[in-house]
Formats: sequence, structure tokens, C-alpha cells
Amino acid sequence: MALQYSPLVVKLLSEMTLEEKVAQMIQIAYNKVTPDEARQWAAKGAGSFLHVLGDNARELQKIACESRLGVPLVFGIDAIHGHGLNDHATIFPSQLAAACSWNRDLLEQMGRVTAREVATDGLHWTFSPVLCLGRDARWGRIDETFGEDPYLAGELGAAIIKGYQGDSLDASDSILACAKHYCAYGEATGARDAYDTQITMRKMRETFLPPFEKAVEAGCATFMTAYGSIDGTPFTVSRRALYDILKEELNFDGFVVTDWDNVNSLVGKQRVSPDIDDAVKRSAEAGNDMIMTSWSFYEAAVRLVKEGKLEESVIDEAVARILSIKERMGLFRQAEKTGVPGCIGCDAHQRAAMEAARQSIVLMKNETILPFSGKKRIAVIGRNADDLRAQYGDWTYFTHPNYNPDKEPARPYVTIREGMEAVGAANGSEIVYAVGCGPLPADNDQAMLDAAVETARSCDAIVLVIGDCKDQHGETMDRADLNLSGCQQELFDRLRALNLPLCTVFLSSKPLCITKVYEQTDALLIAFNGGAYGGQAVAEAVFGQFNPCGKLPISFPHHVGQSPVYYSSLPGWHGGRYCDMPETPLFTFGQGISYTTFRYDDLRFDPETFRCSIRVTNTGDRNGTEIVQVYFNDVYSSVMTPVKQLIAFQRVALAAGESKTVVFQLDKKDFSLVLPDERRVTEPGEFILMAGSSARDEDLLTVSFSL
Ligand code: NOJ
Repeated sequence: MALQYSPLVVKLLSEMTLEEKVAQMIQIAYNKVTPDEARQWAAKGAGSFLHVLGDNARELQKIACESRLGVPLVFGIDAIHGHGLNDHATIFPSQLAAACSWNRDLLEQMGRVTAREVATDGLHWTFSPVLCLGRDARWGRIDETFGEDPYLAGELGAAIIKGYQGDSLDASDSILACAKHYCAYGEATGARDAYDTQITMRKMRETFLPPFEKAVEAGCATFMTAYGSIDGTPFTVSRRALYDILKEELNFDGFVVTDWDNVNSLVGKQRVSPDIDDAVKRSAEAGNDMIMTSWSFYEAAVRLVKEGKLEESVIDEAVARILSIKERMGLFRQAEKTGVPGCIGCDAHQRAAMEAARQSIVLMKNETILPFSGKKRIAVIGRNADDLRAQYGDWTYFTHPNYNPDKEPARPYVTIREGMEAVGAANGSEIVYAVGCGPLPADNDQAMLDAAVETARSCDAIVLVIGDCKDQHGETMDRADLNLSGCQQELFDRLRALNLPLCTVFLSSKPLCITKVYEQTDALLIAFNGGAYGGQAVAEAVFGQFNPCGKLPISFPHHVGQSPVYYSSLPGWHGGRYCDMPETPLFTFGQGISYTTFRYDDLRFDPETFRCSIRVTNTGDRNGTEIVQVYFNDVYSSVMTPVKQLIAFQRVALAAGESKTVVFQLDKKDFSLVLPDERRVTEPGEFILMAGSSARDEDLLTVSFSL
């Protein structure tokens, strides 16, 4: 379907020279050019800059607006969990941590707050959300995903997109979202970042495309092309993926930006183009509209069009898409977003980050030691208890655009140690802290370990914080070993041997193999990267100031050799068994307990109306929130289908003793599969509907039906 462009866009296109049009397709990385080069690009009509903040952005915008046609720039930034590259912004939990909330409203709120702060900095566009699936914990970017499941990722992704873009793109505090990385970037073999991807188009449509389809439905204005490949074709040159499926079939009317240097990489890395001319022609024809950092695109594209080797209409469509979004953003009226003056890091935004941190906590085990009560002397042990960089994880001013671990941390924030000290004091407890060790092998120091054990010996209880740190994850930082690193296991063993109540807090970017810790600790809280208030949230959970209700959006393997491990696998011939390892993970998607307990009964499903209902009762003595999950299995299907697939969930608040019947209105297409010819259909036959508290068989009630 040909797009209709506005009179303004049509007029501009007719007035622009070829050079001006191609320049619109170029996105410059501010920290990779000199300030003078940046000004020159702005003057010659570059479409966009990334990673430029504040007055530098304003200066470039002024130049662009005063250029011949005055086409405004659009500024992009990796505001991944808050506008974190600005050190005064509100830092939210990572996507993976926030996904533990299974809370669409919370994600929308995160998006809204981030949009306000990005817009107040004069910027227009965040490269978020990541809709890749986190199915192999070895991958360095697991923290950036919403976890392993396409349905959960799609729902939370659509919510944060709505938050970023608001009701209208031209509002002063709305910014563009960017669904990335299209597609299946997380699926690289061996979890090696941006490595070979062994998927087919059918598999892509079945598993990896659905979250991106939801992004289009949510009105996401931009998409980013993945580094990876599909069946040997880099996504950067896959017209099938970028044009036929995304733009034609899904009717995506925004623009596509490549990821970092994708065009040059066709020559230098993926080696499907012998030279830049070929790379430019193929990437433009495939449907990339904006080119991130491969500036050689500019000269080559202009020349190729002049030599008749690249149709000018290809350039025209890309430029028209970019201009249309700029127009929808109102940039021709007012080039700079103004946001909400004074809102960066304001109290209301900090409160939103605090609530997000609370909802990101998952309680995995509690042998009645939590919540702590009564006067106690509590030992808080572990470098991660007092390491803001580990708590923040990736994509903040410590890590981007240049790695800067020594940068002065900006308040407000609360580490676990600080949170325990404040909340502990309010509860009449004394907190003593010792480092013990950190996650890095370089942290091995026997004297520090001994000192931590001695500190803990004199206490009534221990809170041990373990996990990973920023040097162990991120782009190109995949792990082959998922065991607890450094001497963290030794520290755990020695503290356990003291026979004191032991609560372990897992502050990490990703699942690690912590079977022994899980079996031997008295309580386990999963905190991932909780953002500015991650530490406060842990302390409040430990002292029972709120009742944790998070559920894992990702499975934890027992052993790295089980990777990838995810609940929605195809039925294995031998049940997916190893001779030396259970076939099930340590923790399964959807798991998480609470300070109260819930009972499920009376599951019903009507295949005529697709109405599903289940009764949930709070059987404990505390109010709590339960996340009710609905899965299905297609018993016999013409292609193999997963043993279970999530199709709905709901958060339900239940007072102690209260029962509620939770209703889900499902649809026939929720029970669909993808045929070998790539068509999505619902095949008649027998199905099993499952509902309960996690993806584990023992946590689900089932009902069979036929369609
Ligand atoms: C490369 C990353 O893959 C992508 O997620 C990010 O948005 C861009 N660099 C820009 O920083």
C-alpha cells in the first residue's frame, strides 16, 4: 500500500536537491565527530544526531533550522531505563527488572516519565524498547530485554511505547519510541552478541515477530534494524523483513533506522557486499530509511543515483518517511521539544522510580525469616550492597556514550546498604556492613572475606548481596560461564556455616547459576538492576514494608550447559533431558512468591465465547497482589508447537482472606500457530488451557477443550 504524504512533505521533497535528500537519511554520532564536523553536517542537512545533549543539541538545531530549507534535526538518545545518560535524570530499573512487575501501567508510566525528561533536554527520540527475547542468559544484553516470552515482551513493549509517545507525537513532552532490534538479535548462536542467528522466516513469525507486531499496533514511530541475520541474510539487506513484512504487511508508516554502522558492516563484518556501493544500494533498497553512523552512505548514495544505479524513488520514500515523522512531531512549527521545565529528576518522577523498584523485586524463597522484625543487629555483606554502578547496570552516565566508571555518582539514589541502614533504623535494627567480596575475580581478598565473616558472627541475621557488575555484561560482554564469579560462592559458604538466619539478595543483570545458594539460603530476593531506588526497595522488602509480588520474566538455568533454557520449548523427543542435569531449569518463567499465599480453583473456559475464568483466594494473613497467568497447548498440530505459550495475564490485588474470580476474554487467534508457508492460522482440534501462578506444571490448573 503506497503511503500518502502531506502537502508539506510533498513540497519539501520537490524542493530538495539529491544531496539534501540523502543527507536527511544520515544520522551522526556526536561523540564520533569534532564539534566543527557536527556543525557542517547540520548545515548540509543531516537528518539526525545521536548521543548529543543540552546546549550542544540546541546549537546544531539552530544551524539546521537556518539552513536552506530549514528542515529540523531529530535527536536520538539511548534513554533505556530512564534518561540515564543525563546524570540528573530519573534512573528506573532495567527493562528486565521492570518486567518482573508484569505491570503494563507501570511500564507506561516509566515511558511517560522518561519522555518528559528526554523532551525537557530538547531531545526527540529514545532507542527503546528492546523487543528481543532473552532466552539465553549468556548474552550480554539480557538486562535490556523484557525476558524470554514474546507475549509478555509485546504487552510491556506496547505499554512503554504508549508512555514515550503519549497521546500525540506533537505534544511538548512526547518523544519517539524505537522498537529494536528488528529482529531476533537475542537469538545469536552461543549467545555471542550479534553473531550468526539460526532462525527461519517461519520461526521469526512464530516467536520473534509478535512483540514487534504489537509495537506497530501501538503506533511505534520508528524501528531499528538488528545486526543479525536470518537464514544467512543480514537483516540490513532483508527487503523481505524490512519492507515486505514490516512496511507492507504490518502497515508500519514510520521510519527504519539501522543500528550502529550496519551499512559498513555489510562489507567489513558480514561480508555480503564487496564494497560500499553494493552495501549502500542493498541497504537502501531493503528499506532502511535512516543510516546510523555509516557516513560513507552519503557520498556513495548520491553518486549511485547520479549514475543511474540506484532509483531516486528509493531515496524519496526514505526521506518522505523521515519528514512525515518530523511533521507529526510538530518540529516544523517548533523544532525543540520543551518538555516540562524543571521535571528532570523531580520528586514525582523519583516516586515513580521508587514504585517501579518495589514492583521489580521477586521473592523466590522464604523459610519464614522474612520479613525481619524486632530489634536486631544485621550484617549487610557484599560489594553489590553498596555499588551504585552494579545497581544501575547498563545505559547510564557511567557507561555511555563513553565508558566512565569513575564519574561522580549523582544523588538521589539509595544503595542496599543505605536502604538497610535507613529502614533498619526505623525498625529498631542496627546495620553493620562489610564488603566481603565483589563479583570480579580481582576482588579475591582473603583478609576482606575473613573480616566480613567476623562482622557477621556478632550479628542476629545476615543479608548477603551477590550477583554481577557492569564489567560482566553489556554489548559484546557475553558470558560463557554463568557460575557466581570471584569468591562469592566461598563467601556464601562461610557465612552459611555461621548458622545465622541468612537472606540472600541477587543483584545482577541476568540469571546466573545459583542452585547451591538457593538450596541453602533461608530467603532469596531477586533484585536485578533496580535503578536509583533498587536499594531502598530491597530494604523495604526485607523489613516487610511492602509485600513483594514480582514474577520472573526469565528462567534461571542450573548450569550454563542447559542454555538456552526457556519454558516455551518444543516437545523434545527425550523430554529435553541431560544424563547429568535435570531437564527443568532452577527457576521457571513466571515463578515468584509473596509474604502471603494464594489458592487457585474453579478454572473454566468456554470455547464458544473464548471466556476464561479462575478463582484466586488469598489464603494468608497479609494483603497481596498475585499475577495470574494463562497458557495454552495445541495438543496435535500440523507443525510442532511449544509445550506451553503465555496468552494472558492479570495482576490481582487480594486482601487477606479475599477471593476473586479473574476473567480473561481470549480470542481464537490466541490459539494460533505458523504454518510452513508462514501463514498464521488456528487449526481445529484439541487444546489444553492452563492457568495459575507460573509456567511450571505444578503451578497450573488445566482444562481441555476442542475448537
Ligand atoms: C548499538 C546498540 O545495539 C543499540 O541498541 C543502540 O541503540 C545503538 N548502538 C545506539 O547507541
